[in-house]
Amino acid sequence: MESPFKADALKGKVALITGGGSGIGFEISTQFGKHGASIAIMGRRKQVLDSAVSALQSLGIPAIGIEGDVRKQEDAKRVVELTFQYFGRLDILVNAAAGNFLAPAEDLSPNGFRTVLDIDSVGTFTMCYEALKYLKKGGPGRSSSGGGTILNISATLHYTASWYQVHVSAAKAAVDATMRNLALEWGTDYDIRVNGIAPGPIGDTPGMSKLAPKEIESSVREFMPLFKLGDKWDIAMAALFLSSDAGKFINGAIIVVDGGLWLSRPRHMPKDAVKQLSRSVEKRSRNAPVGVPSSKL
Ligand code: COA
Repeated sequence: MESPFKADALKGKVALITGGGSGIGFEISTQFGKHGASIAIMGRRKQVLDSAVSALQSLGIPAIGIEGDVRKQEDAKRVVELTFQYFGRLDILVNAAAGNFLAPAEDLSPNGFRTVLDIDSVGTFTMCYEALKYLKKGGPGRSSSGGGTILNISATLHYTASWYQVHVSAAKAAVDATMRNLALEWGTDYDIRVNGIAPGPIGDTPGMSKLAPKEIESSVREFMPLFKLGDKWDIAMAALFLSSDAGKFINGAIIVVDGGLWLSRPRHMPKDAVKQLSRSVEKRSRNAPVGVPSSKL
């Protein structure tokens, strides 16, 4: 699909994307690259990184892949430093690395719970912590007038509650809280904007294949308000909006990109029934004698 953004929306910017070798992270890498950014992707699997980097380079996008695990602070530090050494600056950090699996709470060991918090919540903070030096205004490679920006890929699971996702819900709640606090502190002190995107079900992603395997994908579509899954492109466009100058006054915000799913409720009454009943119920209550309790109407 063609992008509605100008091809130079991120011209001259350098973006580091964790989990950038596959799924949503790779689409963000691709779209950022197509809009002028140089791309560093961080991931644990060399093969995945290598093929992602060749795909980006074949589009003419300056790209490097650096192996690392966001759970290890030394990896986070090394990856951020190598990105700076290679490209001479860092403007955008996207925390897209995440861990997920379905597990009823009673079958989830504390270590399983901790593992997902380590990747999503602690990993996101660790990356932000190590990147701060390069993102803040006046940091290496940047002027004293402008800071960089951070974007966290979160979820909507914790807005209500989600079946078999206690670990991920807790982890993403922490990601969102961290995002808001950093937006406040680092926005004020260092001119760094920090925002989030909360994707709903997005087709053709590792997350989707884990949480809604192919066998049940069509039933997922059925309960989506727009009767369709999102595309990775939808997330990448929101990411472009927030990371480019289009989002220059947006700080501490989350854009929900889920087709309205988290708001949706089962219809408790067919629409035709509401059309017929609503007026007559109103009329009945208006004509009721004063003082008669509504339960007697
Ligand atoms: N159900 C219940 N528990 C599970 C589980 C499952 N499906 N998968 C892993 N766990 C538990 C393990 O049993 C272990 O706990 P234990 O030591 O008490 O037994 C703990 O989680 C850590 O598992 P391990 O396999 O050692 O972790 P890992 O570091 O190799 O992998 C995961 C991390 C489990 C999050 C793995 O799914 C992963 O690497 N995910 C990244 C990719 C991804 O999830 N993408 C989708 C993003 S939306």
